[in-house]
Amino acid sequence: MADAHARFGVVHDGTVADYIPALADADPALFGLSVVSVTGDSHDVGDADHPFSIQSISKAFVFALVAQDLGHDEVLRRIGVDSTGLPFDSVMALELNGGAPMNPMVNAGALATTSLVPGATPAEKWDRIVAGLSRFAGRPLEVDEDVYASEAATNQRNQAIATLLQSYGSIDADPVEATDVYTRQCSLLVTAHDLAVMAATLADGGVNPLTREQVVDAVACRDVLAALATSGLYEQSGRWLATIGLPGKSGVSGGIITIAPGKGGLATFSPPLDGAGNSVRGKLATQHLSRALGMNIF
Ligand code: DON
Repeated sequence: MADAHARFGVVHDGTVADYIPALADADPALFGLSVVSVTGDSHDVGDADHPFSIQSISKAFVFALVAQDLGHDEVLRRIGVDSTGLPFDSVMALELNGGAPMNPMVNAGALATTSLVPGATPAEKWDRIVAGLSRFAGRPLEVDEDVYASEAATNQRNQAIATLLQSYGSIDADPVEATDVYTRQCSLLVTAHDLAVMAATLADGGVNPLTREQVVDAVACRDVLAALATSGLYEQSGRWLATIGLPGKSGVSGGIITIAPGKGGLATFSPPLDGAGNSVRGKLATQHLSRALGMNIF
């Protein structure tokens, strides 16, 4: 771990996301790594306690909650798990697939997933999401209100995707309200250490390694890991699986989680991203650790 941190801390490729104005202020030098085993042992290096907004990594955990509530057959029917092969915010992917969202890790599928969280009102759905993700982390999570306000003021594209989903009958919820709940979930503050705990929970069939709480059942976890394997790194998902050999999920604030089933979770945090929106140092460090630890499941 310390070796991976030292080796890739000197890489200066990639650019910090700026399409959400508040993210443009992130310090590109931040770099943290955290590993948490299913038995709760942890090892952190660098900026593993620096808080940042979870962004797209939230998609994995909200999908877990919805997979738990709806069951395997229903989530496959209503959301899907196939890769789009297109960028995470693609409108074209939705059009090409007849208005069905395809998978829960791209924005269309994530908006559909969030709209399926049980609750009579957006506030009830939100309460369920924040409680559920906090159970994954083993501590109460809070929203970064600046990031939320910044994205809420600039997320017309996500509103358009949600409206397109509604026009195809793929969501029942109000598109602006669904987008707002989704934007709040993306603004939840986590650290790399929190993300490693959350990833380790997925690695252990839904049991949080710190609290020992069964957050979701093992079937829901399996659905999440399958969706991550097909589309966790967007259009780079096949390449990721071929080099790292484990399901993972990235976010535009610079986090990446990787799940070693039955063993534990790895989380990396480094804001500069490649062209697909994946952390450059995070990918390098994960590849290095997966090889060094012999974690490739293939
Ligand atoms: O919806 C968005 O654009 C952001 N809230 C999250 C996107 C994201 O993290 C994509 N990840 N690489």
